[in-house]
Amino acid sequence: MKLLLDTANLDDIRYFNTYYPIEGVTTNPTILAREGGDVIALLKSIREIIGDKKELHLQVTETEYDRIIAEAKALYAMLGPNTFIKIPATDVGLKATYTLSKMGIRITVTAVLSATQAMLAANSGASYVAPYISRLENICDDGVGCAADIVKIFSAGGSKTKVLAASFKTAKEVLDVAVIGCHAATVGSDIMKKLLSHTTTATSIADFERDWNAAFGERTLLSMLEG
Ligand code: G3P
Repeated sequence: MKLLLDTANLDDIRYFNTYYPIEGVTTNPTILAREGGDVIALLKSIREIIGDKKELHLQVTETEYDRIIAEAKALYAMLGPNTFIKIPATDVGLKATYTLSKMGIRITVTAVLSATQAMLAANSGASYVAPYISRLENICDDGVGCAADIVKIFSAGGSKTKVLAASFKTAKEVLDVAVIGCHAATVGSDIMKKLLSHTTTATSIADFERDWNAAFGERTLLSMLEG
């Protein structure tokens, strides 16, 4: 399952883009508001850090059809072809998804809270749908089950639309959507770190260092190899 980073924090994007196998960055208006400042400069910096080939998913803030189209085109023109325009799952959003995808601009239909919304988004030409896992789990609904239904519907119908699971509060939710076959997940910085860190890995590394140093002191394997 492909992993994207759900943040607009430049330090985090630099860090994870350097060390983790992330395939892109996603943001939404809340995430951009958290960073504040010059939004246009921020978006350009994100593109500069991740390069032209990685995916950048940016959400429209307009709600009227013509203005969504204008905003999407302007974002796409500014940030290049690997920019996906996020549009919330509404009636106007579906129409805009249809129009923009026909123009060759790829759309991620976002704020998906049901499998029927995902089906409509796919039928409107969305490249991705983004079901919100923890927002469903938080209201005693089944976020992972919803994503699983969407994966089954797309697979049964031979849909090209992919599932980009979003909104995670735990690393276990990320694991769960990987197991049920989501194509991608976008994960915040804290959860992304939790996907890698394990106390037993840390203690194992400490054990290796202690044992090596007890036997060989200051000499490293590299220094031995280099003679
Ligand atoms: O990017 C959208 C999605 O990840 C929202 O997440 O944590 O605000 O529910 P959250």
